[in-house]
Amino acid sequence: MRNTRWRAASRAAVALAGAGALAAGMTLVLTAPAAAGTTLGASAAEKGRYFGTAVAGFKLSDSTYTTILNREFNMVTAENEMKIDATEPQQNRFSYGSAEQIVNHARSRGMQVRGHTLAWHAQQPSWMQGMSGSALRQAILNHVTQVATHFRGQIYSWDVVNEAFADGNSGGRRDSNLQRTGNDWIEAAFRAARAADPGAKLCYNDYNIDNWTWAKTQGVYNMVRDFKSRGVPIDCVGFQSHFNSDSPYVSNYRTTLSSFAALGVDVQITELDIEGAPANTYRSVVEDCLAVARCNGITVWGIRDSDSWRSYQSPLLFNNSGQKKPAYDAVLAALNSGANPTTPPPTTPPPTTPPPTTPPPTTPPPTTPPPGQGDCSASVTVNQWNGGFVANVRVTAGSSALNGWTVTIDLPSGATVTNAWSAERSGNSGTTNFRNVSYNGQVGAGQSTEFGFQGTGTAGTLSPTCAAA
Ligand code: XIL
Repeated sequence: MRNTRWRAASRAAVALAGAGALAAGMTLVLTAPAAAGTTLGASAAEKGRYFGTAVAGFKLSDSTYTTILNREFNMVTAENEMKIDATEPQQNRFSYGSAEQIVNHARSRGMQVRGHTLAWHAQQPSWMQGMSGSALRQAILNHVTQVATHFRGQIYSWDVVNEAFADGNSGGRRDSNLQRTGNDWIEAAFRAARAADPGAKLCYNDYNIDNWTWAKTQGVYNMVRDFKSRGVPIDCVGFQSHFNSDSPYVSNYRTTLSSFAALGVDVQITELDIEGAPANTYRSVVEDCLAVARCNGITVWGIRDSDSWRSYQSPLLFNNSGQKKPAYDAVLAALNSGANPTTPPPTTPPPTTPPPTTPPPTTPPPTTPPPGQGDCSASVTVNQWNGGFVANVRVTAGSSALNGWTVTIDLPSGATVTNAWSAERSGNSGTTNFRNVSYNGQVGAGQSTEFGFQGTGTAGTLSPTCAAA
């Protein structure tokens, strides 16, 4: 949808080329796609992604700031204006003015909005800081409900819960007044958010979850896997990605993104800044997002270095006077390079031969064998790393609905399943069966459901088969 301008330009180019070619009596040659994008947002859109920034409402009167904002970005996050202390400064007295100013600035210019954040241990209003127990539980769920309802239909994705895991080696939750209301407070918040705004993607957002080997990363991963297996409504994971010497970018970042994505959630880079703004590191982050199909986009945490919460690190893409830094050029080049996975629909030239009378075949994509009557098919994507893998399996019903299914996968020797979610497994090596669980056995004709499993060893190329119960 953000490709509109590209498409229009492309259409015009085709029309001009077509007129010239027809006048010259020559065969029409479709012109190559329009030149690569010249702004972060347009170039990301050509890759089916967005490029966003955090926006501080009080800076919208700074014309240097808004010139860059309006030119470069197509996703906006309020830097502070949607946080709990801003939106509910007194209990049950909601205040949306500065948040709405940002939302309106963005949406009136065709930019989308990430909501940040509904529940967090920090930036709580003082009335909430002093609360505990069931009163706090009720207050936070009311907050989630009210704020998500207020902005219903205007938010691309919500950071429903921010920073709920502890740093260090525990892999467990961070202590906070919210955590002390009970370990299920996170899923309760997600359920409330889904009910309030069913159209928004619901994300868990955190920092220090970029390095796949870190305990905190694994802790969040296990929570997301558990949520997916139990049907808790989570759609995405936000990686803040504030990189610096204590928490550096690492080359396994791509493994982290793809491993989370393999659980059946989108991934988003939500608050990117990199100490010193090394061009190479910025490039790597963009390449990693582009390499993961479910990486929706990248948001940097501010526009100019002087706008950064860590301005002393000069971590952003524009310098204090709003000039593009080398990191900007690296990001743009990375966005513009390589194949375009979301090629806009081809603009068909006038046919030079009569259109075929037979309708185009409607065979499903080759990875999904054609399902038979009352039957089902299964396809798998595998994320392999050295020594282990995550497989995500899609089960698709044939022309009748399924009332239970079993997927059989022959694992190569040395590959062992360690756990599965959204399916009941029998066996863990060789021929392994995965049966539906209670909530995903019924699949309408032509509809799909997903399950996954994790294993050690090398999965190789898997060829799942599906049988209806
Ligand atoms: C920061 C803002 O940038 C600052 O202006 C504010 O003083 C503190 O919060 N993780 C988050 C963001 O999720 O909300 C934080 O933003 C940065 C760290």
